[in-house]
Order: sequence, then C-alpha cells, then structure tokens
Amino acid sequence: MIPPVEPIVRADAIARVSFERSDPVRMARFLVDFGFVPLAPPAEGRQYFRGCGPASYCVEVIAGTHDVFLGFALSARSRDDLHALARFERRGLGPAEGPGGGERLRLHDPDGHRIDLLWGAETLSPLSVREPLAAVNLPNAATRINRPVRSEPAPAPVFRIGHVVLQTPRFGEMMDWYRTRFGFLASDIATIPDGTPVLGFFRFDRGEEPADHHSLALLAGPDARLLHVSAETIDLDAIGQGQQHLRAQGWNHHWGIGRHVLGSQIFDYWKDNAGDEWEHYADGDLMTADYPTGFHPLSRAGLWAWGDDLPDSMRPPGPLPADAPAQARAIIEALSAAPRPWLR
Ligand SMILES: [Fe+2]
Repeated sequence: MIPPVEPIVRADAIARVSFERSDPVRMARFLVDFGFVPLAPPAEGRQYFRGCGPASYCVEVIAGTHDVFLGFALSARSRDDLHALARFERRGLGPAEGPGGGERLRLHDPDGHRIDLLWGAETLSPLSVREPLAAVNLPNAATRINRPVRSEPAPAPVFRIGHVVLQTPRFGEMMDWYRTRFGFLASDIATIPDGTPVLGFFRFDRGEEPADHHSLALLAGPDARLLHVSAETIDLDAIGQGQQHLRAQGWNHHWGIGRHVLGSQIFDYWKDNAGDEWEHYADGDLMTADYPTGFHPLSRAGLWAWGDDLPDSMRPPGPLPADAPAQARAIIEALSAAPRPWLR
C-alpha cells in the first residue's frame, strides 16, 4: 500500500524547531514554563532554548512582525550523508545558525516549510534531572517500600524534540518527499474508506537500533500548517506536575492528560502565546526498522486510548458544503463518528 523507496539518506533525529514570534519575550516565558532552558546570552533578535539532553539547542525563536512556524532541522548520521543529499538536491551547504555551529543543507518541503539537514553541531553536557519513578508498586510485586512519591508542581524537564506533526493539502507528495530524502519508514497509516492514506506516522530508519514510533506525522487537510511540536519528558508525574505549573502560570491547556493509540505516548497538549500547540509526552513506543507498517481505518476513536475526548477546536467543523471534495468529506465523517458510546 506504501511502496518502498530507496532513500538518499537515513536521517537520525529531529534536532530543533524554529519559530518567528511577534512577542518573543512572552514566547520565551512559555517555553521556560513548558520545560526548556534558555541559552544566554540571546543573540541579536534570536533566542535559543535547550532541553536536558545533549542537543546544542531545541528551539530557535526569531523576533519578527509575524507569528510563524518556520520549520525544523533533522540530524544527519554522517557528513557523507549531508553531502549525498546536497548532491542530489544540487545545493550548497551553509553554516548552521545558532549555538553549536555545524553545517547544514537547507531545503524547503512541498508545503514550503524550511527543512535543514544538520551535521557537526557541538553537543552539550546533559542537565541533571530527577530519576524516573521506575519503582512502581504492583498488586503482586511491591518494589517501592518506605519510599513515598513526593513531587511538586514544576516545569516538566524536556529532553529533546520528539516529533513534529504537519497538516498538508498534498499528503502523498509530502510523504514521498520526506521518505525519499530522509529515509522515513511508515509506522502506522490511517486511511479513508477508498483506501487513500490521510494520516501517517513516520519513524527514522535506524536499522536494529530502536527509533520513536514517529518523529514526523502528516495529516491531510485543506491548508499547510503546523499541528504540533512534541517534546519528551520523564514520566506521568512529570507531565502531571508540568500541567499544574503551566496552569499556575495561566497558559492555555489544550488536550490531556491521556494516552495515544498509535505511538502509545502519555500526552498533554498546551498552546503557546501565538496559539501553536506543544505536547509533553512520555513512554512512547520504540520500533526497529523491521517493525511492519500498521494500516487502520481513520477514526476519532483511534486517536487516543484513554483521557478526555478531543477539544472542540481539534474536532471537525460541521457538515461540508455539497461540492466539497470527496476526500475532505470522508475525513470529516471519520473524525465525526462518536468515538465512545458515551461521547457524541
Ligand atoms: Fe504528538
């Protein structure tokens, strides 16, 4: 159903995301409350934020007149890969922006997002965070004796950018563009009744090394836009206390806490000051390259296993006009069907 491609390179990870913000000071406040750490000093009109992991930075915020998602960068597995893709695209390399340096190949995907392939950026010493609450008392296995769980509201420590989700009016073209250039493998694909894929979750091909269930997801829709950026935190308690912290700071909660079906992440979604969505996640699926692609009929019920229903703003609008494209009608119908017997 998804024909295999021989990719130019196999990229390794999502390294960083970039935004233009008309109010970068407030954006910085959101990112810090979300769990990122600002790098000092800010450059002229630009500020950079790291996670607790080794990436030189995870988020770039450029001061401007608009609120725009500019794009993201993927890490190459080798300098040879960077050059191989540059040759394929017949484009030159340039110095990577911001802390850490390195080289990058700058491309634009079919929807116009700025996509860099990055190599050679310096890494940072990871920041220390609390241990995961790995010891869990089970009905038949007591592993946490005389050790109460005591956590406080605090920004959820985020380690790295986990994935980016894009809505696109050219799903097939976007899917092929990313698979051909960066070696993305389809982990799960949701289809409408005629078999057309309209939602896809794609992971990096790391061979026998496990990769996140998805580092990129695409949803067919009327216009090209960012749906969300997701960052990995420690565990459910980090997500819960991170939620309390974000609530205390007055930020707009969007959806969660729940667990996804495709990818299995425990999730919680927030909106930044410009209305873009950010997801905290923990305990997501990891797959090796040989894990087969799953195919599923698109449904709202298939988007989450437990937790609240989708917020109204993520639900499809009312019935489409009679002359709307058949694919749009099929997507809206699939996402409109009651996901649980007690939900409408
Ligand atoms: Fe997500």
